[in-house]
Amino acid sequence: MRLSPTLFTAAALAALTSTAFAQSQAPLKVGLMLPSTGTFAALGDMIERGFKLYVEEQGGKLGGREIQYFKVDDESEPSKATDNVNKLIKRDNVDVIVGTVHSGVALAMARAAKDSGTLLIVPNAGADAITGPQCAPNIFRSSFSNWQPGYATGVVAAGKGYKRAMTITWNYAAGNETVKGFTEAFEKGGGKVIKDLSLPFPGVEFQPLLTAIAAEKPDVVFAFFAGGGAVKFVKDYDAAGLKRSIPLVGSGFLTDGTLEAQGASAQGLITSLHYGDEINTPRNTAFRNKFAVTYKTNPDVYAMQGYDAAQMLAAGLTAVKGDTSKKDALYAAMNKAQVDSPRGKFTLSPQRNPTQDFYVREVKGNYNVVTGVAVKALADPGRGCKP
Ligand code: PHB
Repeated sequence: MRLSPTLFTAAALAALTSTAFAQSQAPLKVGLMLPSTGTFAALGDMIERGFKLYVEEQGGKLGGREIQYFKVDDESEPSKATDNVNKLIKRDNVDVIVGTVHSGVALAMARAAKDSGTLLIVPNAGADAITGPQCAPNIFRSSFSNWQPGYATGVVAAGKGYKRAMTITWNYAAGNETVKGFTEAFEKGGGKVIKDLSLPFPGVEFQPLLTAIAAEKPDVVFAFFAGGGAVKFVKDYDAAGLKRSIPLVGSGFLTDGTLEAQGASAQGLITSLHYGDEINTPRNTAFRNKFAVTYKTNPDVYAMQGYDAAQMLAAGLTAVKGDTSKKDALYAAMNKAQVDSPRGKFTLSPQRNPTQDFYVREVKGNYNVVTGVAVKALADPGRGCKP
């Protein structure tokens, strides 16, 4: 049978439309690139649990699409990051990448996402450049920029009247950028950072640095550590007798997801972060109960960030009814979404980083109890991003 030109066009159009429809109804491939080994292993696990919890709450589908997971352990190892992310992009051909924890690894992921055009949602790593000079329309963050919690903690420390501070961290993007944020706010508030101490990631040989702190006797010490390293640092600081004499503050990662292991050494520590265990809202309570029932453990900041990464993806997919070929509409919907997060509602900056409240928290038992707000609606300056 020969088709008339008009009939042919109509048939071709119908075939094309049904292919696009079939594609948009196939499972959406989500690549999880997170650490499941090393000092950040527990953090990666919490992010994955949070992400999957939200998807399960939606009946296993986002924007009408089933979700199919692909996983890579990035080991928090920047030298393997490009190869690892390309397993998801080139081998598994994923629609979206969710990852990761470590800033150095995430910077390589952002480069690969920018080059390939694959949607990337960063559920933790704070590397400022990701929503700064390396920003791109397909790169989003559900967590924070390193500058943000550093800056908020600087506001808290200056507000307590401390004048001379020392800082201590791992010498890599997250540590250095968090310290920079702290210094900016602390010095604006009338204090002075007299010395910065650091050691290579993920080292835990803290003794020589603790000796240097004891010798200098600052009014306050600011620390950025996380995961297994944070557990060891807080215990060593206490064991060296410093907790009694020199107040220790930190961005909240110092005491998040770590309290059971830190025990008495963490009691009373003051930190600042965009989450706290005891945010007393129906949204947070529902999240915490659901998480505890599902996983038989309490959620932490990382679980919350994973949960919100899924919420951001859902906002985009719902707007395009699951059709990821409508990239402009997908990204626009994600960018303008108001995310109903357990941390409190937030929106994204033009550089696609959360603009959010930073809380003051105090460790009581196994909880980071919120005692106030350090900075309301803190937006990363997004320096160097041309949106
Ligand atoms: C980072 O490398 O960006 C990082 C890692 C762990 C945290 C926070 C930031 O808890």
